[in-house]
Amino acid sequence: MALIVGVVSQKGGVGKSTISRLVACNYSANEWLVKIADMDLSQGTCTSWNRRRLQNEIEPKVAVEQFASVKDALKQADQYDMIVFDGAPHSTSKTLEIALVSSLVILPTGMALDDLEPTIKLAHELKKHKVNPQKIAIAFSRVGNSDAEFAEATAYVEASGYHLLDGALYEKTAIRRASDEGKCATETSFRTINEKADILVQSIVNRIDELS
Ligand SMILES: Nc1ncnc2c1ncn2[C@@H]1O[C@H](COP(=O)(O)OP(=O)(O)OP(=O)(O)O)[C@@H](O)[C@H]1O
Ligand SMILES: [Mg+2]
Repeated sequence: MALIVGVVSQKGGVGKSTISRLVACNYSANEWLVKIADMDLSQGTCTSWNRRRLQNEIEPKVAVEQFASVKDALKQADQYDMIVFDGAPHSTSKTLEIALVSSLVILPTGMALDDLEPTIKLAHELKKHKVNPQKIAIAFSRVGNSDAEFAEATAYVEASGYHLLDGALYEKTAIRRASDEGKCATETSFRTINEKADILVQSIVNRIDELS
């Protein structure tokens, strides 16, 4: 039975697909059989990314499939070690469905209050609808280079009581360029960027282990 990880947000463009691919690539590199359930039928971001990954013959291979429903994706749970749900933005009912079936629910967020407020609001909504709040993890994404902003955003999330994942995905052109080639954020051409992304990966792995 696959371990289910959900990556969701109400906002668009916060890094759901980037973090889904990061999780999938890194577990695949450790011999897990992973499928990304691409729930964004209109954009199919991970589906197109995987086409580029296959064309460029990048290893490890990751399976990606588009699904119209969470239920359809879960029918394959016995064929994989992990299913990563890459959620669509503005999709309230599916976001909740994904969160309910996931062992870890990652909420990527930027560090501005414009991003943090809706993220914590979504976490509260999920909790209100019977998602175990322990399963919810906030991930900083598209982070700039201000230490003050990082510290304030950290304090904001900590005050909310939700689990904050260590590390962050910094806003880097190299991460976009890597995506363009079908790679994930730990597979860029720059060792320091890969190492920073790896801290976030490790913290996701640790949180999954803690919760299981
Ligand atoms: N850390 C980063 N550095 C640079 N660019 C990034 C980073 N993370 C994401 N991006 C870019 O930002 C855009 C949005 O990222 P992504 O597709 O992961 O977000 P999303 O939350 O899945 O968006 P959507 O809500 O549209 O599905 C993409 O162009 C992506 O390449
Ligand atoms: Mg996306």
